[in-house]
Amino acid sequence: MTDKLFEPVQLGALELQNRIVMAPMTRDRAGPGDIPSDLMVEYYRQRASAGMIVTEGTQPSREGKGYWRTPGIHSQEQIDGWRRVADAVHGEGGKIVMQLMHCGRVVVPENRGYDADIIAPSAIVCSDPVPGPDGVPAPTAMPTALTVDGIAVLVEEFSQVAKNARAADIDGVELHCASGYLINQFLNPVSNQRDDEWGGAAENRIRFPMAVLSAMADAIGSDRVGFRISPGNPYNDMDVSAPEETFIPFLKAADNLNLAYVHVVDMGLEELDSLAMIRENWSGPIIANNGLKENSAAQILAEGRADVVSFGRAFIANPDLVERFRSGAELAKPDYTKLYVGEAEGYTNYPAST
Ligand SMILES: Cc1cc2nc3c(=O)[nH]c(=O)nc-3n(C[C@H](O)[C@H](O)[C@H](O)COP(=O)(O)O)c2cc1C
Repeated sequence: MTDKLFEPVQLGALELQNRIVMAPMTRDRAGPGDIPSDLMVEYYRQRASAGMIVTEGTQPSREGKGYWRTPGIHSQEQIDGWRRVADAVHGEGGKIVMQLMHCGRVVVPENRGYDADIIAPSAIVCSDPVPGPDGVPAPTAMPTALTVDGIAVLVEEFSQVAKNARAADIDGVELHCASGYLINQFLNPVSNQRDDEWGGAAENRIRFPMAVLSAMADAIGSDRVGFRISPGNPYNDMDVSAPEETFIPFLKAADNLNLAYVHVVDMGLEELDSLAMIRENWSGPIIANNGLKENSAAQILAEGRADVVSFGRAFIANPDLVERFRSGAELAKPDYTKLYVGEAEGYTNYPAST
């Protein structure tokens, strides 16, 4: 039954050699200037046998950074750094798309190492603490509500960084619309209390995500743009009362753009079957994620509930996860104390099984 995991698949312009995708994971190992480090080049190279790698969340601007030592894609040095990552992955026959993650209001200022505005749809603070420097939980700062002009600047920024990713030879981009970050802050009524055309009814709350996806599709081609959602996820202080009221119109609108894929963090809720909701309202490829094992992933593919599956934590200690699934080798366990610290330790020092 697991055979389907190893079948090639096409996501828009992206040709995957298998259906086992590496999920985006922030690991806080960027160098000074938020430039991809040598360690990052090695880390992604080691995991290139995945059908596709989705990079850690990468900020499109100085304002987009919320966590410690996350990489950017807005300076020439960052573009050059990412080209080294892309070359390493391509050299091993892999594919790599960049997750574009703007934190919006989810910012611990000390994580940045510089001063920049903290922006969000509305001036409402996120009450969940998030990891500060060295991973220690810290409070987030109060954001400033974006002006209408500020929203237009942001849309242009996303369009530019999609081009930057392609200039770095990255194969495509994934817009992070999940887990309570900027795009999710626009989608969610708790964080978006605007009374203009960018807030209020669902058709207004999806306007900014749609404007960004359209701009990026125009910039690099719709078949190289995907997006990630997590309907019903309370993370970072999101309201979860009626996710389908927002996500059905969002999926229907996004479907008109002919994008490469939607990537869903399936929360496994009794009251919401995310995969079924997506199949009903979206005609493109689906990547399913969250807590999957080899067998449960294969079953989702066999039942046609998704076309591709992604694994996060399993890739941390198993750089050759695809080969381990193929051979039935045992999976190594990650050292969770080294997720966001430790440099090479707990990052590039996990060996392959053979
Ligand atoms: C260390 C770590 C960092 C993560 N960083 C991100 C991120 O930058 N962007 C994102 O969309 N999800 C992020 N996630 C969530 C994963 O992509 C994935 O949804 C989650 O780990 C569940 O999948 P899994 O059960 O296969 O691990 C992160 C998860 C972990 C463990």
